[in-house]
Amino acid sequence: MQVVNCLKGIENSITSFYYGKTQLEIGLGAINKYPEIVKKEKPKVMGLVTGKSSYKLNGAWDVVKKALDDEGIKLVHYDKITTNPLSSTIDECTKLFLDNKVDYVTAIGGGSPIDAAKLVTILMKYPGKIAYDVLHLTFETKEAVPLITINTTAGTGTEVNRFFVVTIDNKGPVLKPVVGSIAAYPTYSIDDPNLLMSSPPKMTIYTAVDSLNHVFEAATTKIRNPFSLILGKEVVEMVAHFLPIANKDPKNGEARYYLHYASALAGCAFDSALLHLTHSLEHPMAAKIWNLPHGQGLGILQPSVIKVVYPVLPKICALILGPIIPDLKGDPSEATMVAEKYEEWLAENGLPEKMGDVGFKEEDIDELVKNARETPVISNVLLPVSPVEATDELLKGIYLESMKPLRKK
Ligand SMILES: [Fe+2]
Repeated sequence: MQVVNCLKGIENSITSFYYGKTQLEIGLGAINKYPEIVKKEKPKVMGLVTGKSSYKLNGAWDVVKKALDDEGIKLVHYDKITTNPLSSTIDECTKLFLDNKVDYVTAIGGGSPIDAAKLVTILMKYPGKIAYDVLHLTFETKEAVPLITINTTAGTGTEVNRFFVVTIDNKGPVLKPVVGSIAAYPTYSIDDPNLLMSSPPKMTIYTAVDSLNHVFEAATTKIRNPFSLILGKEVVEMVAHFLPIANKDPKNGEARYYLHYASALAGCAFDSALLHLTHSLEHPMAAKIWNLPHGQGLGILQPSVIKVVYPVLPKICALILGPIIPDLKGDPSEATMVAEKYEEWLAENGLPEKMGDVGFKEEDIDELVKNARETPVISNVLLPVSPVEATDELLKGIYLESMKPLRKK
């Protein structure tokens, strides 16, 4: 933890981080940058995208409302975004914002409201198109209405990258693609660790596991690079150290700060090197069990994914996973042991579930693989960059192994 030791107390400063087209403000109290941003940007009508209620519980709403009132900015609020946001709600929100001449958008929440807002801001520039068109890549998206994201979870990394995940629910099969567009980088993002402190305990582990999968996958795709490996090593080190602290002491500012930073860095890692098996196989699970938390699904699958990736990239896997499982040699023979120890570590930190525990049966596996094959981007972008050829047999094998804990087989 050399970086942490060199920067003791940094969580109390608000620093700017520039990535893609995004200016990220990060630090305890960073929410107070919001009034400065709207004062500078001078929107006339602000569209606000949130879920039903959590945006009020964490304190962000009070700051946003006051800033908009102080500047005389009209507010148009859409609050129907759910976990795994739906294309039908995106279309409804886009219409509301266009009808009310919204010229700037703010999203408060975790990955769901932020990803929804990214797609809404793009669609607002392409009247006549619907979410389905963007999610099926029927045309190229280059523009979006400017967006401020106030990120209240530490896992998706969406506040700094060009990706968004929306479930298609209103035309054809239910699919959950992940789409990247140069237009989707937020204009400003705010990562204030104070906003994480009221999140449910399970959310801390689920979101941390999302960060871990972003970097493990980005470090091991066929298009991996020094950037994705370096970020991977740093992110796993931060999460391995600070997740147990945040679990025990949810109001620990330093732990929350580094989990936020780890999430943002992980978002940059997969912006550069993409993702592969864990995300490709979690999305069909969420398409079937709609309210399955993303990080829980990833945690269920990741041990089995490690087991198949480790033998082909043992040195990289040992480097990335070293902070969680020390003293690895980077030898292919370690694969099963590493997968089992990783699964134990997840259970110790609050994620013991497997597919059988959340409602899946072996009979579902063929349907899940079929869904992955039908889902845009997963089928033609992510699965092809898997370091192990993503045959149907491989995908079915990962699902099958993930039904129960590895060590009980
Ligand atoms: Fe993710």
